[in-house]
Amino acid sequence: MVREWDPRTASSDEVASVLDTLNAVLAADLPQDPPWRESSLREYLSEVMPGERRISWVAQAEPGQDGRPGPILGHVHALLLGDIGVLEVLVHPAARRSGLGRELVLIAARRVYQEGFRSIGVEVVGDTPAVAFYESLGFTREYVETRSVLDLRAVDWPTLAEMSTGVGAGYHLEFCPGGPPDDLIEAYARAKAEVRDVDDGELRPSSYDPQRLRDSLDTLHRRGMKPYIVLALHEHSGEVAGLTEVVVPAQHPTRADQYDTIVVQDHRGYGIDRAIKARMLLELRSAEPTLTEVQTWNAQANEAMLKVNAELGYRPDREWCEYSVDVAELVHRLDAAR
Ligand SMILES: CC(C)(COP(=O)(O)OP(=O)(O)OC[C@H]1O[C@@H](n2cnc3c(N)ncnc32)[C@H](O)[C@@H]1OP(=O)(O)O)[C@@H](O)C(=O)NCCC(=O)NCCS
Repeated sequence: MVREWDPRTASSDEVASVLDTLNAVLAADLPQDPPWRESSLREYLSEVMPGERRISWVAQAEPGQDGRPGPILGHVHALLLGDIGVLEVLVHPAARRSGLGRELVLIAARRVYQEGFRSIGVEVVGDTPAVAFYESLGFTREYVETRSVLDLRAVDWPTLAEMSTGVGAGYHLEFCPGGPPDDLIEAYARAKAEVRDVDDGELRPSSYDPQRLRDSLDTLHRRGMKPYIVLALHEHSGEVAGLTEVVVPAQHPTRADQYDTIVVQDHRGYGIDRAIKARMLLELRSAEPTLTEVQTWNAQANEAMLKVNAELGYRPDREWCEYSVDVAELVHRLDAAR
């Protein structure tokens, strides 16, 4: 039975069952990834940026003989943002290939269509059943990135310490746990805005104006995700010349996520990219002693960043693709196939 589901009011048993399914999916499809924990999972599933909405549905097995509710075998979340609905569909490995994934996509797609959105996007991890699944539903590949993972246990720390100081004269680095300090928010947003039009392929949502940046930081905190930032400040102008953002999620605190890294055009060529990332890793080592890995996503064309990441010790792991489909066509096709 598939029904709409609100993580804010769901029972703890249901949230735990959603977590079990997620971890069974990870074990089957991405066995090297750390399993998720329950801490702040409800908030992770509920909290969104102002102006965005997330609608969820779950597929629950029939009650057992003891009358207790059955486990949640699959779920779909539709995040409505801008002019697109982004779906996340998960089906427990034991319940796959029986049409449940297709049913979950159809129910979410109908709502996305009713809400007036024209296209649906999904993230698809390379070398998993999701590729054949979305292609069978008519989704097409828009974009490919490479995920790379850095194992902190294999890092050469003295070399990294050297890298962190290898920044040109006239710049200094600042470590900002929790987010940029308030007096630098505007300069920070300016640095992000400058690369807004540069197609360097980062998938992660960025915040270009101070208010959106504050909202985005608040949302991260509410979702149980702790941001860390290293800034390169241009001493002469006080401008933010470069920044790198890493988030440690309460749901998988041993593996952090690299978000944006930006070096503003005028400040390129001074070793800022390498230095801020190296400094970040050094700081995380003491700020988050249980952290063992950092993962990052890069466009395959972004050679400069890939080179620095390789120097730091990142190893390419998987292709990470964006697929999309026209909602009306998808609903029509799935309805016709029923
Ligand atoms: C992708 C996923 C949702 C599919 O769920 P499902 O319930 O097995 O899908 P369905 O049974 O509805 O399959 C629909 C069609 O997709 C295609 N398909 C699905 N899985 C496939 C596979 N492993 N190989 C080839 N085709 C596949 C088939 O055409 C299938 O139709 P058919 O069974 O009649 O041939 C499921 O595998 C899943 O949860 N994967 C993890 C997704 C994810 O986001 N992971 C992120 C962390 S790894």
